[in-house]
Order: sequence, then structure tokens, then C-alpha cells
Amino acid sequence: MSPLIIHPDLNEQTLERERILCLKQGKVDPKFHYETQKQSDLWLKVHEQFAPPTDVSCLYQEAGQFLAGLIKPKASTLLSLGCGGGEKDITILRKLPLDVNFIPTDISIPLLQAVAQRAKREGLRVGSPLAFNIFSTENIRNFIGPHLSRQNIFTSFGLIPNFHPQEILPTIHSLLQPEDYLLFSANLAPRGIDEILPQYNNQPTKDWLAEFLQRFGEAKGQITISTAREEQLDFISARFIFSATSILATGGKEFVFEPGEQIDLFTSYRYTKDSIKRIFSEHHIEVAKEFISQNGEDGVFVCQAQ
Ligand SMILES: C[S@@+](CC[C@H](N)C(=O)[O-])C[C@H]1O[C@@H](n2cnc3c(N)ncnc32)[C@H](O)[C@@H]1O
Repeated sequence: MSPLIIHPDLNEQTLERERILCLKQGKVDPKFHYETQKQSDLWLKVHEQFAPPTDVSCLYQEAGQFLAGLIKPKASTLLSLGCGGGEKDITILRKLPLDVNFIPTDISIPLLQAVAQRAKREGLRVGSPLAFNIFSTENIRNFIGPHLSRQNIFTSFGLIPNFHPQEILPTIHSLLQPEDYLLFSANLAPRGIDEILPQYNNQPTKDWLAEFLQRFGEAKGQITISTAREEQLDFISARFIFSATSILATGGKEFVFEPGEQIDLFTSYRYTKDSIKRIFSEHHIEVAKEFISQNGEDGVFVCQAQ
């Protein structure tokens, strides 16, 4: 397996600055929920319990089959943005010719290492795993460029819903060349967002999200997970609400939180099939084909840049 490559922005000094910003602004960047081995393990537990890949694996198999008919095998790379546990990418790759190169990428080094080893065990052709922040200040296409082929499949499963569309879609669009494909997944809310709240409002999810604050000291309070709607977008919102004065400290700096103060821990936007098409098209990304689960709650979308 080619060695893991870490983007220079992923250095402890920059990350510490960004963590401090999260505490100051009271809003946690999603990438900080997957950083440590413990967070990765807690997230994998949540993922196994509340989003079992077997339930929707047929969507990824169908999407893989569809792509197999479109790509040029010897000149193709599948680059996964935010690969996480990598199950979905591996399901797709099993349907593609074996000479398609797989580049797992994520901000979490523990997750990346696990995925690369797993893909290798499955007999897939694995290139260098790349560790980077997709919102890095440098143009990410420059960093990933040497690992790409003439035609590329970018996958982004479970990542897009964690960001406001305005925040993530311009970045995704900037990666796509005319021959490339984007495959992304979204959890949909066909019968309204309240029905899926239990998938988030549970103890394993709270334990995972609380872990970010633990590293700075004892945060006294509790996590509230609820549904919300802003700018015509529905989302799940997890907030930490302090119930007693808490002092969190890092890098020699202290942050005092008083009872009633809140930290926005996590957001997951929920789309419908139609809102996805409309919002992506506003960002010049066209949905060419969609695969929707029988219960209508999960969708895999094959797209190209307009
Ligand atoms: C919800 S998980 C989805 C994982 C996997 N693709 C799946 O669907 O099972 C989101 C993944 O994106 C990664 N991630 C979050 N913020 C990121 C960022 N700014 N840059 C790169 N990866 C990021 C996390 O480490 C995590 O593995």
C-alpha cells in the first residue's frame, strides 16, 4: 500500500488554533468530531447502530453498477471525500473493474488507516490515502491532483449534510472536471424531519459528540438534540447547554462558560429529492441519476458539473 500523505495544514498548531476558534465562536467544526482514536471508535459505534450499511447497501451496489457502464476503467480513480469507515466506497468499488484506483481521503488519520487496510484486504487497488481538510486554505485540487486520473469519480457519503450548502457545494464543484462524476449520499426526510430524530437523539450519539468538549476539561451541562428549520432548510441540531459555570482550557487559554450558554455541536441538513436537485443545480452540479431506498429515507445521487 502506498504511504499515507498528510496535508501540511493538518499540523497541530493550525488545528489547535481552529479548535480554539470553535470554543470562542460556540460552534464546532464537524471535522473535530472524528479526530482522535476514541472519537473515531465512538462514531463507528453510532454508525453501526443507527446507520447499518447493509440496509442501504443495494443503493451503492446499483450506483456502482450504473457507473461501471460509464467509466473508462484503465483511466479512472475513485477518490472518496470523507471516507469514514469506507464501507460505501468499497461496496461501489466491488462493482467497478479491478483496475480502478481507490484513493481514500479524510481528515481523520485513524479512520483513513483502517479503510486503506480494509480495501487492501478486499483485493482493491489502493493508492496513497490522503489526509486533508476539504476546506483547507490551499486549492485542494492542487493537493489531490497528482493522485487523480483522466476521469475521476468523487464520492462524498454522509459529509455534505453536515455543512450548509453554500459552505460545501462551491468546494465540491471546484473539484469536478467535465468528464468526472460526483456520487453523494443524503439522508432524506420524506415524511418530515421529526420521524428521523431518534436516529440522532440517543445516548451513543451524545457520547460521541460530547467527546470534543471532554478534551478541554469538565463541561457541566447536557446535550439537546432537536429538529430546526432555517432558510427553507430542515436540519437536526445538537447543542451543548451549560448548567453550571465551566472552565475549558487549551494552549494556556481559558474559556469560561456560564449556565445557559450553548455550544453548537453538530448539524445534519435533511433534503428531499427535489430540494437536492434544485440546490445542487444552483451550484452548477446536475443530478444525472438517483437511487432511492424503499422507505425513501436514503438517496445516492450520480452527478456531473454543469
Ligand atoms: C458522517 S461521516 C461519513 C463517513 C462515510 N463516508 C460514511 O458515509 O459512512 C463524515 C466523514 O467526513 C470526515 N470529515 C469531516 N469534516 C471534514 C473535513 N473538513 N475535511 C475532510 N474530511 C472531513 C470525517 O472525519 C468523517 O469520516
